[in-house]
Amino acid sequence: MDIFERKPYQEFMHDSQDKKLNRVLGAFDITIMGLGIIIGTGIFVLTGIGAAKYAGPGLMLSFVLAAITCAFVCMAYSELATFLPVSGSSYTYAYASLGEIFGWWVGWSLILEYSVGASAVAGGWSAYFVGILHSCGIELPKVLTAVPADGGIINLPAFVIVLLATGCLILGVREGARVNRVLVVIKIVTIFAFLFFAGPHIDPVNWQPFLPFGLDGVVAGTAVLFFAYLGFDALSTAAEETKNPERNMPIGIISALAICTVLYIAVCAAMTGVVPYPELDTAAPASYVLEYIGLRAGSALIGTGALCGLSTVVLNMLFAQSRALYSMSRDGLIPKSLYTVHEKYHTPYRLLLIIGIIVSLVAGFTPIHIVAEACSAGTIFAFLCSCVGIMVLRRIYPDIPRSFKCPAVYLVAPLGFIFCAFIFAHLSSHTLVLFVGWSILGGIIYAVYGHKHSRLRNGKEVA
Ligand code: ALA
Repeated sequence: MDIFERKPYQEFMHDSQDKKLNRVLGAFDITIMGLGIIIGTGIFVLTGIGAAKYAGPGLMLSFVLAAITCAFVCMAYSELATFLPVSGSSYTYAYASLGEIFGWWVGWSLILEYSVGASAVAGGWSAYFVGILHSCGIELPKVLTAVPADGGIINLPAFVIVLLATGCLILGVREGARVNRVLVVIKIVTIFAFLFFAGPHIDPVNWQPFLPFGLDGVVAGTAVLFFAYLGFDALSTAAEETKNPERNMPIGIISALAICTVLYIAVCAAMTGVVPYPELDTAAPASYVLEYIGLRAGSALIGTGALCGLSTVVLNMLFAQSRALYSMSRDGLIPKSLYTVHEKYHTPYRLLLIIGIIVSLVAGFTPIHIVAEACSAGTIFAFLCSCVGIMVLRRIYPDIPRSFKCPAVYLVAPLGFIFCAFIFAHLSSHTLVLFVGWSILGGIIYAVYGHKHSRLRNGKEVA
């Protein structure tokens, strides 16, 4: 059963010396990157629908439940990122712990998280962009802002933002991180501005009833809102570009998750405290809340912040996708010719170009939002494998030092697994069907290509 063969730890470490990516990121960069990739559609778009249709003010509990789940998983990822500080994140951990077929399956699922996620978020970016132009009196014709299935020709803003983000990433990690930092600051300032303006208008009466849809609603809300937390796992894809990753990775991942959780719960409390929850059924709930209290200008402010926020999600998802595929190409599971870094910029430019072109075409021409929920399925699957993987790695490599050790791993990892499985089971059946279909397609590609070309089975040469 060679499909279950594990790639040895020593080989991963050796490979990461092969074609050095630049180690330029510190703990602060990782935290900022985390805020960049995590805070986006979840808070700016999904909160309203989540409160109105699923959990009411109890959506705050949905955020807490999702945060607890992510906290368990985050502990596992922090250890895994320091144990195997190489590109590839969940893909690498699954390959080392559960064997090649799981590595491939997780890597394939990450395409759902990163590429489908980036395309969907680019669509959201376009909607905000069109809205801001509209409030400035500029109307873009629908043929240029909608995909053919929605009556247009191309969603040009979505197409362009993906290409711009790709360009930034090709020019270098440092440059990408610099742009990211500015955009993240604007995004965070916007969220604080929202809390500042909305906070004094909270009327606790609006929090009654707190659980209009019962506890079932809270869990259903968690499944929908899980998207808001997606991305922290992607931070570990930057391990090969992080200085002193043993220290900086856990600090960055845990800080980013903690900051996001606090912000999410605060925003959710403010939204449901100011506006009766049934009225939050809108794609731009934060703008709606500010208009509700008479701050029309606030709507434009939030729009600008959301635009910056969504840009960073697109930027970081493309980054993570390129690093995951970079590792897969190094291992021969996708063509090895893609395992090339640019001589001057030290970035995997071929992969970035291919990803950028495909994601921009998908964002520009397909109704990707219909399948966007599948992102959560792909990610939760990767989390499940990592929760098992960390325990397997502790057993296979008990003596390799880990500078960050997940506390009480045999409790935390199973709890992470159980919480993730619980949320996975509450995803919509439409999403689960998509995930199964995607996995079958991946299985066929692995059988036809990856299995034959795997470097583990065919010697160690890399093109
Ligand atoms: N967590 C990211 C967002 O909410 C994917 O947009």
